[in-house]
Amino acid sequence: MKLLIDDAHMDLIRHLYEFYPVDGVTTNPSILAKSKRNPYEVLKEIRAWIGADAQLHVQAVSREAAGMEEEAHRIVKELGENTYVKIPALPEGFKAMKTLCKEGIFISATAVYTPMQAFLAGKCGASYAAPYINRIDNLGYDGVQVAKKIHDMFRNNGLKTEVLAASFKNSRQLLELCEYGVGAATVAPEIMEGLVKNQTVTAAVEDFIRDFESLTGTGINMSSCEMTIE
Ligand code: E4P
Repeated sequence: MKLLIDDAHMDLIRHLYEFYPVDGVTTNPSILAKSKRNPYEVLKEIRAWIGADAQLHVQAVSREAAGMEEEAHRIVKELGENTYVKIPALPEGFKAMKTLCKEGIFISATAVYTPMQAFLAGKCGASYAAPYINRIDNLGYDGVQVAKKIHDMFRNNGLKTEVLAASFKNSRQLLELCEYGVGAATVAPEIMEGLVKNQTVTAAVEDFIRDFESLTGTGINMSSCEMTIE
């Protein structure tokens, strides 16, 4: 499962890239609005930091297919090859997806709440379909189950499209989809950190360090340890 960051804040992206195995960055119009900066300025900074090979997902905001197509061309022109254009899984979006996929532009179908939307996106040739796990939960359905169904549906129909699960509220939702083997997930920085921040683990490691230092002296480790101990 590829793991992406769902944020546009450079400090957070740098931090997460430094510590974790990250495959790219996804954004949406609301995330970009939070930056209060020119969207292309922010996106170009992200692209420069993550490199040309990493995935960058950017959403088109037009309501009609022709506008989405124009946006897609500009987005890819500005941000390079591994840029995925997020197109909402609506009728106008499917129309745009069909054209853009034929042109070889990578499409990430977004605002997916139902398997049927994902199926149509897959048939259009989208690389990803992004079910919104937590928003589906908030409608009274089970977002994780919807994502699993979509994954199975792609495989059962011989479609190459992968699930890009999005909109997580907690680490448990992510873990379940990771165990299931969906193609990708995008998470907010706090969810990524939440995956590994655990007092019990930290305490266990601290115990090891304390025991070692009781043998060798404070601050001594395996690289600075002398060959004899007094
Ligand atoms: C993904 O495509 C969405 O933009 C995003 O993950 C939505 O997340 P939210 O429900 O936390 O806003």
